Amino acid sequence: MARWTVLLVLQASLLLPRPASSARSPSLRFVVLGDWGGVPNAPFHTAREMANAKEIARTVAIMGADFILSTGDNFYFTGVHNSDDKRFQETFEDVFSDPALRNVPWYVLAGNHDHLGNVSAQIAYSKVSKRWNFPSLFYRLHFKIPRTNMSVAIFMLDTVTLCGNSDDFLSQQPERPRDLTLARTQMSWLKKQLAAAKEDYVLVAGHYPVWSIAEHGPTRCLVKHLRPLLAKYGVTAYLCGHDHNLQYLLDESGVGYVLSGAGNFMDPSVRHQRKVPNGYLRFHYGAEDSLGGFAYVEMGPKEMAVTYIEASGKSLFKTSLPRRPRA
Ligand SMILES: *[C@@H]1O[C@H](CO)[C@@H](O)[C@H](O)[C@H]1NC(C)=O
Ligand SMILES: *[C@@H]1O[C@H](CO)[C@@H](O)[C@H](O)[C@H]1NC(C)=O
Repeated sequence: MARWTVLLVLQASLLLPRPASSARSPSLRFVVLGDWGGVPNAPFHTAREMANAKEIARTVAIMGADFILSTGDNFYFTGVHNSDDKRFQETFEDVFSDPALRNVPWYVLAGNHDHLGNVSAQIAYSKVSKRWNFPSLFYRLHFKIPRTNMSVAIFMLDTVTLCGNSDDFLSQQPERPRDLTLARTQMSWLKKQLAAAKEDYVLVAGHYPVWSIAEHGPTRCLVKHLRPLLAKYGVTAYLCGHDHNLQYLLDESGVGYVLSGAGNFMDPSVRHQRKVPNGYLRFHYGAEDSLGGFAYVEMGPKEMAVTYIEASGKSLFKTSLPRRPRA
């Protein structure tokens, strides 16, 4: 009897997925999820948010993930009131509750809907939850790729204070920042950081897209002010949400644009197709009957692989971007 038990335990441990960093080729792995923030009435989540949470948990259990990056619109439709707001429980903790996600940190930025409420409360929630990390409106993340000497910088932006707020159900463009000094401070911080960044991969993340063929289209303010910086400083990719679908675009300077805004809603609109330069769009998925999806990123010694995964579990599209040349 005792011997049987030992055997069973041994077999069970062989079946368990091994930790990502030791079992697989060296890489830093993360999920990019946007526009996932549920609804303000019971049950405070949507079928798509639930389906995404389930598929993210499955992906993390099989493939591993070092973190989850939120591209904003964390709480529909008007953010949260304070750091005790029940929505943190109802729309975040109770939805992303799978044991596979228990110890996976989130790095968070705010979207236009979050800015209709109290973003300071979302920042303050970092002290309440052990996995919610939102240290300030804009901030820098730095990672080592496990078992390599490669490193990754991610600059988390607040594109709403940078460009202005907008009502996304009226498909407005953000026109101007409410606080010009804050917008300028953020822009000069970003320029300084990008100019100094020596990492093997540099990513910039924000809520509004630079390029999008969908309902909101390209964000003029970012095309004008951010896009030249991405090219000038050899940024690997820009990660965003806002439009409720999945897109991948690549410009002639080699910057990749990962739009992941399918966490809660799906919108098939392609009304700004002609506002994006010819040849940039590589992938678009906005099927209305889809349960949404997210992007899964693996940053290895040579390249950054991006896979778009539908909440049903289907791999929709896969691409890769090269590591920056070393000086
Ligand atoms: C925003 O949230 C913070 C943290 O809970 C709280 O201290 C502050 O009073 C809130 N602001 C407003 C205007 O409610
Ligand atoms: C990083 O590692 C590679 C191979 O593992 C090695 O060739 C290179 O010299 C190392 N670079 C630095 C800066 O340590």
